[in-house]
Amino acid sequence: MTNTDNSNGRITVDYTNMIRSSVGKRGYTVKQLVGMEQVAEQAYMQVQANRGKGMQGWMDLHSNQSKVVEDILACAKSVRSKFDTFVLLGIGGSALGPIAVFNALCHLYHNELPDNKRNAPRFYCVDNVDPVRLSQLLDIIDVKTTMFNIVTKSGSTSETMSQYLIIECMLKQQLGDEYRHHIIATTSRDKGNLIKLAKKNKYKTFFIDEGVGGRFCELSPVGLLPAAVLGIDIRQLLQGAKCMDMECSSPKMFDNPALLLAVLQKMAMDNGNNITVCMPYADNLKYIADWFAQLWAESLGKAVDRQGNTVNVGQTPVKALGVTDQHSQVQLYAEGPFDKVIMFLAVEQFSKSVTIPQGCEEYENVNFLCGHTLEELMNTELYATKYALTKSGKLNYTITLPSITPHSIGQLLQLFMMQTAYCGELLNIDTYNQPGVEGGKNATYALLGRKGYEQLREEIGSSDKQDYIL
Ligand code: PA5
Repeated sequence: MTNTDNSNGRITVDYTNMIRSSVGKRGYTVKQLVGMEQVAEQAYMQVQANRGKGMQGWMDLHSNQSKVVEDILACAKSVRSKFDTFVLLGIGGSALGPIAVFNALCHLYHNELPDNKRNAPRFYCVDNVDPVRLSQLLDIIDVKTTMFNIVTKSGSTSETMSQYLIIECMLKQQLGDEYRHHIIATTSRDKGNLIKLAKKNKYKTFFIDEGVGGRFCELSPVGLLPAAVLGIDIRQLLQGAKCMDMECSSPKMFDNPALLLAVLQKMAMDNGNNITVCMPYADNLKYIADWFAQLWAESLGKAVDRQGNTVNVGQTPVKALGVTDQHSQVQLYAEGPFDKVIMFLAVEQFSKSVTIPQGCEEYENVNFLCGHTLEELMNTELYATKYALTKSGKLNYTITLPSITPHSIGQLLQLFMMQTAYCGELLNIDTYNQPGVEGGKNATYALLGRKGYEQLREEIGSSDKQDYIL
């Protein structure tokens, strides 16, 4: 096995297989695309006009956090010197980004590495309230050497606050007053309960700005603190995002990858492609697909447009992993309904190279593999899958990372967020709200007896029909 390195090159987008001349009748002609230029430019103007305003505070996070970054790096240094485990408690946007970046940029077996080979604390992110998961985490960590990062922008999310109560109680029992040095809060500057608790108990605190929503917050302290604790170069992460922002700075969609991808997806949605598959061909990128799924689903899945008309738009994101899911889902993608766009994430140069050694000389149908590398096999299978899907008339495009580095991951995150913002604009919806999630949250509050939700509790009680149970 050999280590290889690659400089911080730029991400490329290949949309050839969205074009009719390549994929056949369900693809788009260049004329059709050109016909979208004006609409695309309007969407661009609108998104850019709101840069930094309202819920678009995420757009400049790559450039406006120099003080915060210094504070994060200092805090991370201290955590790294005092703790062997870092646990993030959060859910949704407060968890998926940190999980994705950890898996992308750390050793795939980071937590299992022996201490002398792991230069950072172990990292766990508990983004569920499954009692087995939390109990079993407590079986393997020593709270005396663990830092807990409670992440909730609203400071009131039931799942995260339940976890907080459990951990705080346990820390107090085991550490007495010292417990407060084992909690870092990442939350809103002035809203919600966590900030009140943080002030009262003097927790180290980082802030999530009002204009940075959960699924757009990975480049805020939500993602930067855990990344810095893990030894990831957060300045490069931000620099990558900045480079992508510049790549996407043209109102002309053919010069703006995020805008072009948004337009292509909008056209695909208009033609009944209700599914988008995110299929990275690299284990390091597996959880980027999870992060993307939330970004795309929660931002674009909306019942009404900005004028209040019922539209019920959105595209269901599906997560897949190359090559693993070639042996699971690709059969459906190739031969099933014409209802999806497949987005491949490719890596040009892997950080490791593994050559398949000579052997099995007597078996030609095994021996042909010898001398090739695993990364060659991976990328050949990607090429072959794209070829087969395109031949079957299935829309697909490929985003290629030169290599997986903080810089390229920063580019990728910014690209996806910009694409989502433009797509929301093209759909004429509010990209940044989540009324569908709030409905479930409020019903939970009501059912668990939260004050102020009595009427909803009654309403739920009276609609609780169980007439068709087997
Ligand atoms: O994208 C979103 O806004 C949501 O997924 C939130 O991140 C999630 O509900 C958690 O919210 P909070 O950070 O307030 O606990």
